[in-house]
Amino acid sequence: MELKQQAIDILRANDRGGYTVPTVTGLYPAQWNWDSCFVALGLAQFDEPRALTEIETLFEGQWPDGMVPHILFHGDGSSYFPNASVWQAGPARQSSGITQPLVAATVVRQIFERTADRVIRMRLTALVPKLLAWHGWCYAARDPHGTGLVSIIHPWESGMDNSPLWDDALSAVEPGPSVAHLRKDTGFAAAEHRPTGPQYDRYINLVLRFRDNGYRTDLLYDIAPFRVADIGFNAILQRANQDLRFLLASTGDVTGAAEVATMEERTGAAIARCWHEEHGFFYGVDTRIGKIIRKPGIPGVLPLFADAGVAARHPGLVKRLESWLARVAYGVPSFEPDRPDFEPQRYWRGPVWLIVNWMLIDGLRRNGRADLADHIRRDSLALVERAGFAEYFNPLTGEPLGGPGFSWTAAMYLHIAASTE
Ligand code: GLC
Repeated sequence: MELKQQAIDILRANDRGGYTVPTVTGLYPAQWNWDSCFVALGLAQFDEPRALTEIETLFEGQWPDGMVPHILFHGDGSSYFPNASVWQAGPARQSSGITQPLVAATVVRQIFERTADRVIRMRLTALVPKLLAWHGWCYAARDPHGTGLVSIIHPWESGMDNSPLWDDALSAVEPGPSVAHLRKDTGFAAAEHRPTGPQYDRYINLVLRFRDNGYRTDLLYDIAPFRVADIGFNAILQRANQDLRFLLASTGDVTGAAEVATMEERTGAAIARCWHEEHGFFYGVDTRIGKIIRKPGIPGVLPLFADAGVAARHPGLVKRLESWLARVAYGVPSFEPDRPDFEPQRYWRGPVWLIVNWMLIDGLRRNGRADLADHIRRDSLALVERAGFAEYFNPLTGEPLGGPGFSWTAAMYLHIAASTE
């Protein structure tokens, strides 16, 4: 069967009515925030109303303070740990209590610009104030001192759970009780492709800490045992700021647009300060101890997605990315190959993820590097042709890893295949 049709079939099969689970297996039996946003981009290729429903359902879970949680359980979740009864978070006790990268405004803008349907535009317009509330929450809760860089307080908020970039900050967290026997993920995917036991214990201990403090926005920043201003999270936010400002201006909210322009200015300047001239790379900061995280992972390349002028200002960044591509069979590895921390099979410590590839394809095109964008586009399509719609892929061999029949891989395949300029 044609691959595009297979991708559509996966998205249909993973549809639980209003939201899409990440994979056909029970590995992730709920709605994940940024998964849904990427899925909407794929759905928009063949069913715009359904694409919009995906985002609307996500925003139904928005908290009164503006946060959009990283997981919405929708009553499900028995095969996942930690599920709703562990989190006990949110007004309806049906979500996690942390967030995920704010890609929604970028996705909403993409659909807004391509749709010819008035009803779809009206539904998109209704989402715009909710997007603004989420961005506002993010700055108030995660950058209370107005530095321009927001912090994540759990590795899961980065969306790149076990990236080597969090190792040091996470090792300072008390492990808490061992939860190895409660984990369900290793029943669905090989343990050597997943985070380790000690990492998982700390992930859960952070959750319990936040739960004990009632998930209070005004407290968590100060008490979080893990707190990192991730360059990737901020780059994605910065891109979303630009797209949100466009949406606000297009829908006549001048005050909202001015508010976001201020966020954008501050974050743009702060990201620029994260450039390390000597190493030729962007680094984030452990904001608990004020230490720069000098590790070359994919988050440091993501300013390409946020800023159309970054390749011209820092040609070394693109050269670095090219050197990574030269060392793997399929790009883009999530960590610099040949480093001791690089593990080509383990989750966010080396494997290729198509959502990251899409952000880089888009960013490189905006930076005038269509040639390199095409390289990554070809690799992305080749991976799926070779190995199917896996969660992630080994960059050295192209081997499929993690869960099969993965929604965001199917969605990105459709979206990347369709975008040729
Ligand atoms: C893992 C990924 C995260 C994703 C989730 C569901 O936790 O690291 O980015 O959202 O799985 O696919």
